[in-house]
Amino acid sequence: MSLLSGLSVQVWLEVLAACILLGVLKTWSKTFVLRSRLPFPPGPPPSSWLGGNVGDIPEIKPWLRCAEWSKDFGNLIYFRLYGQHNIVINDYNTAVELFQKRSNIYSDRPSTVMLELTGWDFNSGLRPYGEHWRTERRMYQQAYKPDMTLTYRGVQTEKVQDLLYALATTPDDFRNHIKTVATAIIMSIVYGHDVSPKDDYYVELAEATVSKLAQSMFPGATIVNAIPFLRYLPTWFPGTGFHAFAGGARKLTDQMFNAPIAMVEKNINEGTARPSLASELLENCKTEKDRMHLKCVCATSYAAGADTTVASIEVFFYIIAKFPEAQRKAQQEIDTVIGNDRLPDFSDRPSLPYVEALYREVLRWMPAVPFGVAHGTSDEDIYEGHYIPKGASVIPNVWAMAHDPKRYPDPENFNPDRFFNENGDLNDDDMLYTFGFGRRVCPGRHLASNTIWLTIATVLAVFKLGKKKDADGQDIPIEADFTTGMMT
Ligand code: HEM
Repeated sequence: MSLLSGLSVQVWLEVLAACILLGVLKTWSKTFVLRSRLPFPPGPPPSSWLGGNVGDIPEIKPWLRCAEWSKDFGNLIYFRLYGQHNIVINDYNTAVELFQKRSNIYSDRPSTVMLELTGWDFNSGLRPYGEHWRTERRMYQQAYKPDMTLTYRGVQTEKVQDLLYALATTPDDFRNHIKTVATAIIMSIVYGHDVSPKDDYYVELAEATVSKLAQSMFPGATIVNAIPFLRYLPTWFPGTGFHAFAGGARKLTDQMFNAPIAMVEKNINEGTARPSLASELLENCKTEKDRMHLKCVCATSYAAGADTTVASIEVFFYIIAKFPEAQRKAQQEIDTVIGNDRLPDFSDRPSLPYVEALYREVLRWMPAVPFGVAHGTSDEDIYEGHYIPKGASVIPNVWAMAHDPKRYPDPENFNPDRFFNENGDLNDDDMLYTFGFGRRVCPGRHLASNTIWLTIATVLAVFKLGKKKDADGQDIPIEADFTTGMMT
């Protein structure tokens, strides 16, 4: 038996309390000098001296509580989870000011122990700001810049047309079909892999891995993220279930990281590889380091690009069944501009302003990443007389921005007309902020926008979406609820 495991639980608890106290004191002392003169942004009073606001931040849809708090505390809200400073931005202008105009300070990511323990630290989207991130960011910019996305249009069109067939034959299975269209597009672009509509090995693997990330990433979801040294506690210690969770997740992550690239390499060797991002990067790969970066970029593309696109298309299906008037107007526009003898294609996008407005309203009504992805501060800062410490986690409350009644009157109502100005032209609010901010803005936004837009336009050109009928021909009411996590 090791020395550690020989200690009594009582002693361990005392050591633990002392460590937590030290961690909190360290955070306080680091910020004491400036903080003694300047306050943190306002926020809810902490309910515990040790954990801070741990009990005050709901695990379910925290964006709603933070939007509520903005009425009392303003657009910038501070709360503490143990030693971790958190700041939530509830309005668009402040987000632009900090993430964009002060991007030299606000482009880091908060460090999360669970990422490392679960093997998810391969994800360049969650990497600290630095050389590794910069190298991979360049690779994304190259792969997903607007003129490169032109080359993906063929795949997108083919997969969206497959969706039409699937919807026509098995409409009850529509959620699976939505998942297939988004995953098939990304798998084809990244790995040249043609997914099977059911039980695809690579999709299932990625899904299982991504769901582990969702469970391990949310702020406050696990105490070890807030108190990093807990990772060194032995596995038998009470409350260290995160070790077992992380061990299981790591096995999946390793497979997701390596298996698709091994498949592409096998296909290259056998001469059957289709053109893809992975095959192109493998061709130019000279060192082990290059190989590591290319695996990170490919695996992150799937992790960041599949579920987010699925979520947006699902919102479209739900909302269009709830608000038939928007569907009617969009279909009238498609019928007038395109007619009935062909499907819409990308070149039609500028000629279909109402469909464009509908697409924007889908992104606004329920953003796929409602609490954004937290940025980290790489230095301390002062904003409007408030102190923002170095190492803080700064969260854009995208949901609150998209439901700001000053910017979007009657925000709960699904109303694409809000995107037209008084002359009847589309305004310049393209909802791109639902894809993030500043140097960390989503590099896949053009690809995602194309997939979502084409799906909306094509499905509306062919189908009337509505509520299912009961045996008496009456509409069965639908009420969606949204999951909590990084993506909803
Ligand atoms: C509806 C679809 C999508 C949504 C809503 C979305 C949203 C986001 C958001 C909010 C961020 C964080 C930005 C920030 O930190 O401020 C992000 C980052 C990222 N997204 Fe997307 N995304 C989508 C699709 C995609 C696709 C299709 C890809 C790739 C093919 C992709 C790749 C990435 C990557 C690599 C990052 C990390 C960027 C970095 O940290 O430098 N995303 N995305």
